[in-house]
Amino acid sequence: MGVWWIVVVALLAHTASAAVRDYHWEVEYKFGFPDCKEGMVMAVNGQFPGPTIHALAGDTIVVHLTNKLATEGLVIHWHGIRQLGSPWADGAAGVTQCAITPGETFTYKFTVDKPGTHFYHGHYGMQRSAGLYGSLIIDAAKGKREPLRYDGEFNLLLSDWWHESVLSQELGLSAKPMRWIGEAQSILINGRGQFNCSLAAQFSNATAQFSNTSLPMCKFKKGDQCAPQRLHVEPNKTYRIRLASTTGLASLNFAVQGHKLVVVEADGSYITPFATSDVDIYSGESYSVLLTTDQDPSQNYWISVGVRGRKPKTPPALTVLHYVTAPSSQPPSSPPPETPRWNDFDRSRNFSKRIFSAMGSPPPPRKFKKRLILLNTQNMIDGATKWALNNVSLVVPATPYLGSVKYKLRRGFDRKSPPTTFPMDYDIMNPPRNRNTTKGNGIYVFPFNVTVDVILQNANGLDANASEIHPWHLHGHDFWVLGYGEGKFRPEIDEKTYNLKNPPLRNTVALYPYGWTALRFVTDNPGVWFFHCHIEPHLHMGMGVVFAEGLNRIGKVPDEALGCGLTKQFLMNRNNP
Ligand code: C2O
Ligand code: CU
Repeated sequence: MGVWWIVVVALLAHTASAAVRDYHWEVEYKFGFPDCKEGMVMAVNGQFPGPTIHALAGDTIVVHLTNKLATEGLVIHWHGIRQLGSPWADGAAGVTQCAITPGETFTYKFTVDKPGTHFYHGHYGMQRSAGLYGSLIIDAAKGKREPLRYDGEFNLLLSDWWHESVLSQELGLSAKPMRWIGEAQSILINGRGQFNCSLAAQFSNATAQFSNTSLPMCKFKKGDQCAPQRLHVEPNKTYRIRLASTTGLASLNFAVQGHKLVVVEADGSYITPFATSDVDIYSGESYSVLLTTDQDPSQNYWISVGVRGRKPKTPPALTVLHYVTAPSSQPPSSPPPETPRWNDFDRSRNFSKRIFSAMGSPPPPRKFKKRLILLNTQNMIDGATKWALNNVSLVVPATPYLGSVKYKLRRGFDRKSPPTTFPMDYDIMNPPRNRNTTKGNGIYVFPFNVTVDVILQNANGLDANASEIHPWHLHGHDFWVLGYGEGKFRPEIDEKTYNLKNPPLRNTVALYPYGWTALRFVTDNPGVWFFHCHIEPHLHMGMGVVFAEGLNRIGKVPDEALGCGLTKQFLMNRNNP
């Protein structure tokens, strides 16, 4: 009797500490008002942005995802979740699974192993830009505490929004000649922005720089979907603000008028806290900042999210930090904080260079086993504009790589790996001498448990005197950011400048104009992992590569993930011999 009781209690304790969270989601388009103007948005269970997933470290998340779109495939990627042991649940169409066809349901199942601020988004075509995203927040396991102290928290999911439909954007990007999508109409905070009006209209210069006329004051009716969510705070408290960017294009800068921000988390890892007046955040990144409400409690303050890295044509998104001690309708008494100059790249680099892992985080291995040097170039193929890595522009094949490698389907993709470096006499400061590039779908294959260095090398685009920022995101891993440099990477010399002591662990990192970024990871997660620029149109134009590792250790892949391309026929033959 006594023994059984102990067993039962032990089982209960176990299930209580690691929950299974089960979600039933349906994705469809709906009419919405993200920036007060009506448009088509992708909604999850009728919500835009999609519902926030809250879980505890150690939990298992199960999402039954039904595609209710009339004419499009669908997948969802869990950005920042490493999918240890569940590579098939990563949600990258053509890489880890087939797109879910209209009417069908696919079940994702994965565990979340550590606390952090993450998000999810569509990863088929440009569905992220169409509004398919939401937050995924992991808190410490029961009985455990995060090494942070705060009294309350807010979650801000940042995005950008176009009035042109995403299908039309995709068509334009592949057209000959390309039709560029241009800058976003609005920046959204939790899916809300204001087009053609301003919350800060009373300060005429706050908007004049983004539109010829200064904008009128926004007026909202009760229940308007585009009314900003204000942050209600009490004086003399500390709040955690979670920031994540799912932008299609924009690099953003977050600032709160009159308040210091202490950055404590980046991409789901703790960092050495540092204080700053504002935070640069690139697409695919997330941060937590601590804000202490130590300012005049009879005032309200602007929260501003402006565009950097590209010449801004989009006004900043605004909302208000409302001290509950101040009259709730009282506008802040001075204009919103000004976004730092868009092309002050020194400032941007300096922000990145202030990020170090928290004390006690695992340092990287001292030496690498394999190294890739990836040259980022803008090129042409038959009159279409493309992005290429070492002169290969990625076209994801019809058969998902994970299925091809698992079942050794040789024709699933090009068996020849793309080049691991580029000609060292390549002139990164000028437009490519040979404007043309080639398409490809080859992948980089690594053995299990080796240390890989990737050097991202930026270059001039097709037009003279232009090199863009590219935020690179790796699936399936966190990597260490070993360093940044300007100009062309010089192997023996620049390696000596690496930070091997406390480099931050991240899943997304910026590559600055005409510079290089070095990162390191260990191939300890058997699977096939996408590594790509997180700018949606760049990815659409081929700006990605694919890594495969530990191929003979890949566990079971559900057949449902592979009902397309060569794997479909293979599974039919296998299951009905
Ligand atoms: Cu958030 Cu492959 O991306
Ligand atoms: Cu890019």
